[in-house]
Amino acid sequence: MRKTIIFLTLCLAGLSAALLAQPATDTKQMNKFIDRLMSQMTLQEKIGQLNLVEGDDVVSGGKEKAAFVQMVKDGMAGAMLDIMDVKKIYAVQRMAVEESRLHIPLFFGLDVIHGYSTVFPIPLGLSCSWDIDAIERSARIAATEATSEGLCWNFSPMVDICHDGRWGRIAEGAGEDPYLGSQIAAAMVRGYQGTDLSADNTMMACVKHFGMYGASDGGQDYNIADMSRWRMYNEYLPPYKAAIDAGAFSVMSSFNVVDGIPATGNRWLLTELLRNQWGFRGFVVSDYESITDMTNHSIGDSLDCATASLNAGLDLDMCSYVYIRKVEQLLREGRISMKTINQAVRRILEAKYRLGLFDDPYRYCRDTLRRDSIILCPQHRAEARRIAAETFVLLKNNGNILPLKKQGKIALIGPMANDRLNLSGTWSWCAQPDRYLTLLEGLRRAVDDHAEILYARGCNLMYDAAMEDRMVRRKKMRDPRSDEQLLNEALQVADKADVIVCAMGECAEMSGEAASMVGIEMPDAQRALLEALAKTGKPIILLNFSGRPMVLKWENDNLDAILQVWFAGSETADAIADVLFGQVSPSGHLTTTFPHHVGQYPMTYARYASGRPMGERFQRFKTNYLDVPVEGLFPFGYGLSYTTFQYSPITLSDSLLTSSGKITASVTITNTGNYDADEIVQLYIRDISGSVVRPIKELKGFERITLKRGESRTIHFEITEPMLRFYNKDLKHTSEPGDFTLMIGPNSRDLQTRHFTLK
Ligand code: BGC
Repeated sequence: MRKTIIFLTLCLAGLSAALLAQPATDTKQMNKFIDRLMSQMTLQEKIGQLNLVEGDDVVSGGKEKAAFVQMVKDGMAGAMLDIMDVKKIYAVQRMAVEESRLHIPLFFGLDVIHGYSTVFPIPLGLSCSWDIDAIERSARIAATEATSEGLCWNFSPMVDICHDGRWGRIAEGAGEDPYLGSQIAAAMVRGYQGTDLSADNTMMACVKHFGMYGASDGGQDYNIADMSRWRMYNEYLPPYKAAIDAGAFSVMSSFNVVDGIPATGNRWLLTELLRNQWGFRGFVVSDYESITDMTNHSIGDSLDCATASLNAGLDLDMCSYVYIRKVEQLLREGRISMKTINQAVRRILEAKYRLGLFDDPYRYCRDTLRRDSIILCPQHRAEARRIAAETFVLLKNNGNILPLKKQGKIALIGPMANDRLNLSGTWSWCAQPDRYLTLLEGLRRAVDDHAEILYARGCNLMYDAAMEDRMVRRKKMRDPRSDEQLLNEALQVADKADVIVCAMGECAEMSGEAASMVGIEMPDAQRALLEALAKTGKPIILLNFSGRPMVLKWENDNLDAILQVWFAGSETADAIADVLFGQVSPSGHLTTTFPHHVGQYPMTYARYASGRPMGERFQRFKTNYLDVPVEGLFPFGYGLSYTTFQYSPITLSDSLLTSSGKITASVTITNTGNYDADEIVQLYIRDISGSVVRPIKELKGFERITLKRGESRTIHFEITEPMLRFYNKDLKHTSEPGDFTLMIGPNSRDLQTRHFTLK
């Protein structure tokens, strides 16, 4: 440490050690420090700061190794991604700090999307807990583990609102609702960054993918996302803004096109909106190679792409290596200005300063032993287990078949039943599956010798081996036995059992990046197995694994119970056992509508009022489909419990709301069943008339409560004028006087209503 400071002190030509030790939040000192540093940088060194280098290759000795190492030593790299080992990070940081001319440290980034080695449920699952504090804690734990491995920058939270289950990346976000999505976005930023970004256990958040990526046409990845500004402001932008308001220090541009221009080169998006309107002060990084990808968008050659992105306000080039190759030329040709380059460099250096790296470049990586006591420690695992159980959504529970008693013979069947690799879901680079239990192991441990868990795999993910091979790149799980052999084994096992639990659905790589699909029903081999099992007449419980909403119509019609379990992370097995056997009552509520048919996409509960809305019964010339209902099979906000909750009528303190006043809507919820349980009480509001078309309902509040058997609690929702604001046709955030409907209930469909007027 001392050596480094001396080193830096010497090379920063007289910069005093006192200055180096100043707190990272002192803007004046920071500016002075950076002015001084920049005054010594050559143009090439400045451009080097704008280069985000792929680290994997450096440490694995891949073909680019020599070139990347040289970049670091020459000061031609500003940051590095994808190194997952503190010792390697230390070694690379040493190269930067001790061998480059100005000794400027790097920062190290990774996608730590839902936990590091203690893996939490995929973000879509996490959102179904509606437990904002728990989500913040999960981010805090992720940061604690990741920083002990030397990382200080996280490509998370992903806050893209999505109305389309075909898009594989729906798994990475918080679902379809901007209000809930905003709360989750802010919580994750707080969790990662804490109150002191320069502490050795906090990391810089990166909000992505800016913007509107979740609206990719047809649910296809990387596709264009075209919409009116009015829709952007009302539906898609709020979570990005919430994350920035919470202090997120970096933003990642998205792969898609916005208003005809790729987001990565879109000045309106990256400068006018983000910086000028929202006041964002951090830096913007491209997505992976998204600068040069713009050549495919027909933006021009690599020179044109670099010009577009730098001038748009994109500071850091993720792995296109086009800034280091082309920016000098662009400057010579007058296509970009020195001012633009300086601005971008300053933002990167500011990030380093705020992370405390100028004070101590080895802040996150000096202690190479710290990780041993932090990563996968019992406290983290216990928290992950608790949170995972909160994310499961009970979709059906006929005759209260669940929870199961720990007795008799239970058949566990399905491709996910004894799998270890897939439990952590998409984006879990640092998972350590060897240390996780398979569901079979977890259930056996849970029942001990009170019950017998029989097992059969039953089938592969799907019949078509070539298709499965295409879908599953890394976590191969195909069983070489024939379909018939697998099925027969399952039927024999089922025959001996009192109840059948099926662990089925998708595998991890069927959602996430580059995993769009239109067939979102149960894959053929698994459906056929379910049909065969249903013929046994034994009760069947489906544990549905997926990273997206699936079409579960047949399953809903034919099975006894369905528990949606997403990919619940490292503690999946224990968490499922907790819920299956009733130690914990399920409390997750959907944050994405499950459709009747894939053809209903895009869809959201918060649809705009059409001129011909469908009523309760089918009518022809209405906004509908002839063959399926308008609404989803399982609506937004839906989720059952082992207990029952009774909602009292709503009382409203007043039916007139003034612009500076408030009214209170109260409802008493009673646990009328036999289990202690949590409920998520939801408040929706409809603006009856406005200068622009308004949604038929919008989530405006919710509360997660715990009620013991027989216990009651009165929840009070305060309604104030700011809650009623929306973006009008001039994109002004405003409310308009008039009548409103207020709705409270356990999901977006089953609601009681009251009315009030805004004066
Ligand atoms: C993804 C980003 C991710 C980046 C770095 C890209 O392909 O779109 O979400 O952060 O890679 O891994």
